[in-house]
Amino acid sequence: MSARLAVLASGRGSNLQAILDAIEAGQLSARVVGVFSDRPDAPALQRVPAAQRWSARPAAFASRADFDAALADAVAQARPDWIVCAGYMRILGAPFVARFAGTLINIHPSLLPRHKGLHTHAAALQAGDAEHGASVHFVVPALDAGTVLAQARVPVHSDDTPERLAARVLGVEHPLLIAALQLLTSGRAAEREGSIVVDGHPRFSPLTLDSATGVLV
Ligand code: GRF
Repeated sequence: MSARLAVLASGRGSNLQAILDAIEAGQLSARVVGVFSDRPDAPALQRVPAAQRWSARPAAFASRADFDAALADAVAQARPDWIVCAGYMRILGAPFVARFAGTLINIHPSLLPRHKGLHTHAAALQAGDAEHGASVHFVVPALDAGTVLAQARVPVHSDDTPERLAARVLGVEHPLLIAALQLLTSGRAAEREGSIVVDGHPRFSPLTLDSATGVLV
């Protein structure tokens, strides 16, 4: 049975497109059952048929909790097996996270725990990091703090700008997200009490994407 994926996105949706392309190519046994956004004009929404789109403006709700509750109900209605935050730029409140615990992942453009939050590429350059990358992690209420399942690394070059570095990271984000979803949707990997278990064995460090093969090792 193919896994049902809900994708939360606020922006252009290149990670969503990577998921759609991997499904189309038969690399991922899944289907996208809904795309959810806090920005009704997000280009990501246009990547799926209208029947699979949900969006609302947080400003139209009385509180952040009310917006989160409406989002959670809409997501639940799609009956997803996995919920993927792919460029979703709002913090999800604790009730949302608790409702979908264990099935909620995020892709973040840094080698967590380094550079949480925004402007990660500029932060990596400013820190003089020799390496940068992306992480797929389970979501907890604290920002970018959940257990990391997998990472992809790229070198930082001496003449990098944040934009150049962002482009290099994006190139590994897409295969990283697909490889992580392959593991999760096939049941090979899961989070158990804050730890990652792969093929029945606990992992004490994140899996790493082998960029030559696209496989997590
Ligand atoms: C990606 O870099 C993702 O890691 C970050 O926001 C960006 C979204 O890109 N959280 P896209 O919308 O998937 O193209």
